[in-house]
Amino acid sequence: MNKKLMNIGFVVLCAVILIVLLKAPPETTKKTPRDKTHENPREYQNCPTCHQSGAEGPKMKADHIDSAGNLKSDHVKCYMCHKEQR
Ligand code: HEC
Ligand code: HEC
Repeated sequence: MNKKLMNIGFVVLCAVILIVLLKAPPETTKKTPRDKTHENPREYQNCPTCHQSGAEGPKMKADHIDSAGNLKSDHVKCYMCHKEQR
């Protein structure tokens, strides 16, 4: 294959990847408030205690909990989605 053609192909591929990344929707998941309680996002074991129904914090979205009432395994690490506010 022609080397010049390969280079053009590479540049086009890079442009396509860049456009896809730039068009990604903005991050909308709520960030954790900037206060003492939310200081350490790695302490995710404690997060549910304040964020289930009846607790002091705003309730987690229903999709965080499975039908048995337990936290879904892919929602355990809150900080993966709820980023820290800077
Ligand atoms: C001691 C209780 C407590 C603990 C522990 C706690 N939170 Fe909170 N959280 C609150 C309260 C109260 C609020 C609402 C008041 C505020 O905005 O400061 C809140 C607000 C939030 C919000 C914002 C919700 C919104 O509507 O804006 C997120 C996201 C959140 N917490 C996630 C977490 C995560 C992740 C953890 C674990 C690292 C955690 N919380 C641990 C009490 C707690
Ligand atoms: C897979 C990603 C993901 C994980 C992990 C996750 N959440 Fe969420 N959470 C969301 C999304 C998406 C929403 C709905 C959009 C929003 O309001 O932020 C939400 C909503 C919430 C809300 C309600 C915010 C409001 O004001 O309505 C709270 C509170 C919350 N999550 C707490 C937690 C806690 C505590 C954990 C860990 C036990 C956790 N989340 C783990 C994605 C996630």
